Amino acid sequence: MNIPRAVGEMPGSPLHDVVTGIAFGGDYNPEQWSLEVWEEDIRLMREAQVSLVTVGVFSWGEIERADGEWEFEWLDTVLDMLHEAGIAVDLATPTASPPIWLHQAHPDILPMDARGIRFHQGGRLQWCPSSPVWREYSTRVARVLAERYAVHPAVRMWHVSNELGGGNRRCYCPVSSAHFRRWLADRYGTVDALNAAWGTAFWGHRYGSFDQVTAPLDSESGHNPGLLLDFDRFSSDALLAQFRAERDTLRAAGVTTPITTNLMIKPEPAVADYASWAPELDVIANDHYTISRDPHRERELSFSADRTRGLAGGGQWLLMEHSTGAVNWQVRNRSKSPGELIRNSIQHVARGADGALFFQWRASRAGGEQFHSAMVPHAGTRTRIWREVVQLGEILRAIGEVAGTRVERADVAILVDDIAGWAWQAGGKPLNGYPIWADAPRWHACFNELGIPADVIPRTGDLDGYRLIVIPGVYLVDAALASRIADAARHGAVVAVTATSGIVDETNAVILGGYPGAFRELLGAFAEEFLVLQEHEDTALDDGGRAVDWTASVEVENAETIVSYADGPLRGRPALTRRSVGAGAAWYLSAQPDDATLATVVARVVADADVRGRFAAPEGVEVVRRSGRGERYLFVINHNAHEISLEVHGHELIAGIDVGPTLTVAGGSVAVVREG
Ligand code: GAL
Repeated sequence: MNIPRAVGEMPGSPLHDVVTGIAFGGDYNPEQWSLEVWEEDIRLMREAQVSLVTVGVFSWGEIERADGEWEFEWLDTVLDMLHEAGIAVDLATPTASPPIWLHQAHPDILPMDARGIRFHQGGRLQWCPSSPVWREYSTRVARVLAERYAVHPAVRMWHVSNELGGGNRRCYCPVSSAHFRRWLADRYGTVDALNAAWGTAFWGHRYGSFDQVTAPLDSESGHNPGLLLDFDRFSSDALLAQFRAERDTLRAAGVTTPITTNLMIKPEPAVADYASWAPELDVIANDHYTISRDPHRERELSFSADRTRGLAGGGQWLLMEHSTGAVNWQVRNRSKSPGELIRNSIQHVARGADGALFFQWRASRAGGEQFHSAMVPHAGTRTRIWREVVQLGEILRAIGEVAGTRVERADVAILVDDIAGWAWQAGGKPLNGYPIWADAPRWHACFNELGIPADVIPRTGDLDGYRLIVIPGVYLVDAALASRIADAARHGAVVAVTATSGIVDETNAVILGGYPGAFRELLGAFAEEFLVLQEHEDTALDDGGRAVDWTASVEVENAETIVSYADGPLRGRPALTRRSVGAGAAWYLSAQPDDATLATVVARVVADADVRGRFAAPEGVEVVRRSGRGERYLFVINHNAHEISLEVHGHELIAGIDVGPTLTVAGGSVAVVREG
């Protein structure tokens, strides 16, 4: 029997006062449509069982038509209509798109690029986060909105701006430069400390005072990697300060409901240091779009969802945006195949999302996103997409009782870090443009193949209790993190370090004495030199494996060689080493393995850590467990075109039937079983 529960009984979910069950809906932009369309929208939202919509994201120009001239009638009407229909609102501060009149009056709020050229009006996120003029106008609109709607019964959550940094990640204007200098003075105290940190003796770039520093405007031969990394940190902090300013304004004006902003979490380094942002958000919210050209889109989705949960400390989060079909910002924008939007949503929910929202509710006729898919397509409701939207609404209602439960903690942690990715991107490297962050999803996919869940955690994550900790392509590791990782090994964890991890410290300077300096002692081995391979080259390993792209000449000090290079200049030298450390062990993979080789490396470390698969799933089937309140829920997502079966006993919530000992799931379908 399906036992619906009131969300109030589910402490823990940051959404428990926002909606009942799993939130379902999307960005709703009624300002693009007439009253008749709003009426149809409400009717269709009810038909699809929509429970939460984000309103007002890009509406500034429609609520403040000219400086200080407010126009709220339309928004009052929309919010009242939504409330009457029982649909909760996540109300946005509209600061992602400043109105034309503001840019006309204050062009100096526009950001400047690295060539020193200012952007122009139009587009979105066209503002410099360090501008005091911008801060004044943006917090004013937030305050006026909050004063009017903080107590509106429909408004259950607030959404600050939109994808901060998604169009204005770095601003190089003089105001930003001055702000950067203050930020540096706070960080370093003295200019000598800054010179030491950046190693400015190189090319004689010594600064005589903080006043001499500027944002890293283009210089033909490239900038100091320490400067570039600090500018990225600063830029993240400047955007976070804008988030805080808007959030604090909302609170001061009476908002008591959760406040969030939508992050953009994927395998690549993010536009901001989300590990430092996460504690500032009441709900971790993510926008996720699959990439058309990626043949393993569903794997990348799983990884990014797990990464999002890692930022939520393993708890629940909200999928703020994804798409029902094609986006319009890739080159070949692929639509989703039948069932894919449902599988995608359920993948996110399986991995801890307590809501699945889309961009956007109704496809726009005009404007820059007119060919972006939506819940209501251009063709209307006699469409496959609409039918699947309605079906998804039904599925999410049926599984509502999982809201507030947590994904079971894994035995394996994969550590990722945006700042480490930026450090790699700053300055010339042995293998330029190489996506070292792609190691993490590759390891994640191998674990999933084995039925082994893996948490993806930020550098601030808790390492306690993991049996296996992977440090994949985490180029920058500071001393504090290195020592936490070494402690975890001493206390029993098996730690696996890949070739490009732990090379530089927090200043982006190389840790001397052999790579990877952050882990040399822990690994009992070091690389004296990187030997990067050319695109057509590979190197054999003596266990039958192959290395591609990256190898290193390793000296073993105090470790066992498990696999050696079998040809080329490194023939006979260690490629994979292991050292026993206290109750645990440390593995060092100095070579970049091809896929098959990585699978064998994963099998070795998994065996060493004595980690067992939790799910015996057929190939192409994703299985995840959430649990809480004494119940366990098994999510089964069949990415295959054919039917599969799996051993499980319990009640399948979507079909509302008891299952066991075998559950069959049709090709491309999903199942959610309350076990027992
Ligand atoms: C997101 C953004 C939305 C919409 C969407 C299109 O990045 O937040 O407003 O533009 O992309 O995919």
